[in-house]
Amino acid sequence: MSADTFKAWRVTGIKGWDDLVLKERTSPKLGQNDVLVKWRYVSLNYRDLIIPMGQYPFPITPDVVAGSDAAGEVVSCGNKVTLFKPGDRVISISALSYQTSPFKPHMIPTILGSAVDGPLQEYSTMDESTLVEMPQSLDFQQASTLTTAASTAWNAFFALGGKQLQPGDWVLIQGTGGVSLFGLQFAKAVGAKVIATSSSETKCQLLREQGADHVINYKECPTWGEEAKKISGEGVQHVLEIGGAGTLGQSLEAIAPSGVISLVGFASGFANAPSIMDILLRTCIVRGTMVGSKEEIVEMNDFIDAKGIKPSVDPTVFELKDLKDAYEYMWAGKHFGKVTVRVS
Ligand SMILES: NC(=O)c1ccc[n+]([C@@H]2O[C@H](COP(=O)([O-])OP(=O)(O)OC[C@H]3O[C@@H](n4cnc5c(N)ncnc54)[C@H](OP(=O)(O)O)[C@@H]3O)[C@@H](O)[C@H]2O)c1
Repeated sequence: MSADTFKAWRVTGIKGWDDLVLKERTSPKLGQNDVLVKWRYVSLNYRDLIIPMGQYPFPITPDVVAGSDAAGEVVSCGNKVTLFKPGDRVISISALSYQTSPFKPHMIPTILGSAVDGPLQEYSTMDESTLVEMPQSLDFQQASTLTTAASTAWNAFFALGGKQLQPGDWVLIQGTGGVSLFGLQFAKAVGAKVIATSSSETKCQLLREQGADHVINYKECPTWGEEAKKISGEGVQHVLEIGGAGTLGQSLEAIAPSGVISLVGFASGFANAPSIMDILLRTCIVRGTMVGSKEEIVEMNDFIDAKGIKPSVDPTVFELKDLKDAYEYMWAGKHFGKVTVRVS
């Protein structure tokens, strides 16, 4: 394969993973402000799995190239490119027009892997403004995990003016997915205390090894929010809300007055949401939270270098041609940390 003709996973429909098809493609011509990137690793997110299943809430462009997060190497640059040169190590951002916060609905048609081509292909041609230099302390595999999961945790803790996570704060993270594990690492790096939940004893033990101060098995203890409140005293200052409707009730039990629940995901579905009064009476902030902007990813990468943070990467690595095995693995919840796919 060359940069002229190469393989790309395209979303040809939304009836299931059979609609994800590995096709040959030709590279678009390099424009003056474009950078040709050879991807080394892609990491997977929940959204990648549900897009071909028709469960993603935003529009899908027919035949779009799949994928959200990747790290790779600059191969060549258009003649007006000033930010990069061949050999630079870069990562993707989440939406081409999401340069600074806050995320706005008009940016939805520029999200990678749903609206515009993502990085589940050997090469991409990207405008230079849509790439970020990798943290220097990470390798390609580690850096490929950052764009979505890490920047979402970063946005939740550090991007709400006046409510940034502080040393000594209590944080509640739900489950052992990518967002939560980055949340754990960022919280510990600023000296916060972490209560983490998971569904199995094996994963609970891994959370302890990653530095969680308290761990609760949410299957065995359905009132994990009340438990977190007892542990923290007056309640936790931040919750990374991964489950959504089905878990928000317990998060409201855990939150301290004026605390922040960052509503990130909907992994528990959309049923059984708490009532408006349940929210009102907690006097907390429930904040819809999206991935980080390009500007936030740059700040986060500096923090990762400064604190020596190494992303938690699942030991099983998949090849590009075996993408669907990686999807099955992640869908079955066999992973701990980010699932990665080796591209080249
Ligand atoms: N707003 C945004 O921009 C944004 C960005 C990234 C992700 N998200 C969303 O955030 C969620 C997590 O993303 P991710 O990439 O971290 O996912 P992931 O790596 O697939 O991890 C999901 C984890 O969530 C935990 N979980 C699932 N159902 C749960 C429940 N009912 N209660 C508590 N924990 C539960 C599980 O942990 P255990 O296996 O330990 O039980 C599971 O491993 C997804 O819904 C995703 O769509 C949103």
